[in-house]
Amino acid sequence: MSKNLLIQGLLILLSSTGFAQVYTLPNLPFEFAAYEPAVDAQTMQIHHDKHHAAYVTNLNKAITGTAMEKISMNDLLMYASFRSATVRNNAGGHYNHSLFWDILAPKASQRPISKELQLAIESKYTSIDSLIATVNKAASTRFGSGWAWLVVTPEGKLAVYSTANQDNPIMDVSSERGIPILGIDVWEHAYYLKYQNKRADYLNNIWALINWGAVSDKYAAALNDPLLKEIEKDNWLAIKDFHKVMAQTFHPAEEKNFAPLKSRSGELYAKAILLKNSTPPVSANNAGIQDALTRLEKQCLDIHQLVQKPAKDEEKKNAQLFEMITKAHDIFHEVEGLCHD
Ligand SMILES: [Fe+2]
Repeated sequence: MSKNLLIQGLLILLSSTGFAQVYTLPNLPFEFAAYEPAVDAQTMQIHHDKHHAAYVTNLNKAITGTAMEKISMNDLLMYASFRSATVRNNAGGHYNHSLFWDILAPKASQRPISKELQLAIESKYTSIDSLIATVNKAASTRFGSGWAWLVVTPEGKLAVYSTANQDNPIMDVSSERGIPILGIDVWEHAYYLKYQNKRADYLNNIWALINWGAVSDKYAAALNDPLLKEIEKDNWLAIKDFHKVMAQTFHPAEEKNFAPLKSRSGELYAKAILLKNSTPPVSANNAGIQDALTRLEKQCLDIHQLVQKPAKDEEKKNAQLFEMITKAHDIFHEVEGLCHD
């Protein structure tokens, strides 16, 4: 068969699968057997060629023909709570395993830890051994399937925690957020053939494969990644809470439906108080934000008081309410804008 015919055949085969190849399975950087004895070759092969491959295939299938084809992996993960379980699980599965292969290497190919990461670990955990014990504790107490992580938090600090299934700390479904720089897969598919039910033995041995040089690269990259600020802002739960009530009252008012605002003005005011008393992202412009939050709280109080006031001319009252909620909405966007500074 000529080369051209072969390429043509491959193209037909690809198009006949009926979905876009947005994501591809990364090659494992070493032979399957290179990870022995910590992880056996057969486990590596099934883990990479079957499990990880399935996450990639299912993710591509799920996003084909949707707007998700065009958005970044970070956005897929970050707003996981708005995605289907299929997208959440398979995007997570693809991201998490890609990270895992990046940080595993046989001893001869490992690079040393950077000074910066070593200092950060020592200042938080006193030593690498104690960090390892902390990660292993998170991994061994994770019930069922999941991952244990070393994460750079939105404040630029290190943290250790675990997530269930294929979730990860970038996702808004995770109670603790950040960019993972090291992850340990504690699904049984990662260790069962060799270790069976002995997760603790797998956890003790997997560290022989951790390439601290690769983890250090991820640490440096995470500190400078704009995603960290996005997570920080997204993690400001009080503003998310306020935004929800604002959206559900303001947008109907734009369509002259004042019923939601009138029945929920007390709730809107309560959320504004909570927002005012919450802690904004450390990177945000604090003086400006405090000022805007004070104005927002006052504006919501004024709205609530007007709602409660009996009115002879309901239409006039609605017009006044619309003016006031529009102003509150503007102040809210001022707050959001200040977070980007
Ligand atoms: Fe896995």
